[in-house]
Amino acid sequence: MKKSFTLAVTGASGVQYGMRLLQVLAQHSLSVFCVMSDASRVVLRTEYHPEFPLHNEQARGFLASLCHQSFDSVTFVDNDDWFSCIASGSAAPDTMVVCPCSMGTLSAIATGASNSLHERAADVVIKERGNLILVPREAPLSTIHLRHMLMLSELGVCMLPASPSFYSNPECIDDLVDTVVQRILDQMKVDISLVKRWGENDGR
Ligand SMILES: Cc1cc2nc3c(=O)[nH]c(=O)nc-3n(C[C@H](O)[C@H](O)[C@H](O)COP(=O)(O)O)c2cc1C
Repeated sequence: MKKSFTLAVTGASGVQYGMRLLQVLAQHSLSVFCVMSDASRVVLRTEYHPEFPLHNEQARGFLASLCHQSFDSVTFVDNDDWFSCIASGSAAPDTMVVCPCSMGTLSAIATGASNSLHERAADVVIKERGNLILVPREAPLSTIHLRHMLMLSELGVCMLPASPSFYSNPECIDDLVDTVVQRILDQMKVDISLVKRWGENDGR
């Protein structure tokens, strides 16, 4: 069976990370179930593109024309589509990324709230002992945030903060974004290289 991935985009700052990850996975024709929270659409319109579609029907065409590539391997799932495969351990992909991950979603996942599909999908990956990768974005972090992160980390969830690195000498924002996306791809065990690895730089 072909491997699939779940990507949840939530309403934290840094939706560029999620969109770039989606773009790279689609470029490589990897199967992705993409679910976006309502708040993520607000952030997508604020930070990514003012006309980002409010409904999934237009998402594929919009992204295809913006990024000049196909998004045919992506299934855009409504956040209340409880019949989607990502809602059940019997069918869900075993690898899920929440990128960016708001503190609201982080707290919902830590407490098992499952009030929307993206929260439920994460709950499913935890209960099935799959590979859940969260990309939280907040500063500073409160004790509540840190407690939730510790709780999730102890459950085996990968906490991968949206914290770009500079040692690859990024020249623009896209390069910085890729330093985070590369780490996510590595944790997903997807063999794609966007950024020079440690030790590959000239002039060390
Ligand atoms: C432009 C914008 C930026 C935001 N940035 C963050 C952020 O960095 N981290 C965060 O936890 N919440 C952030 N929020 C607030 C969340 O969107 C809000 O808590 C929302 O309820 C999260 O819902 P969700 O987790 O279902 O997407 C931001 C909101 C907006 C409009």
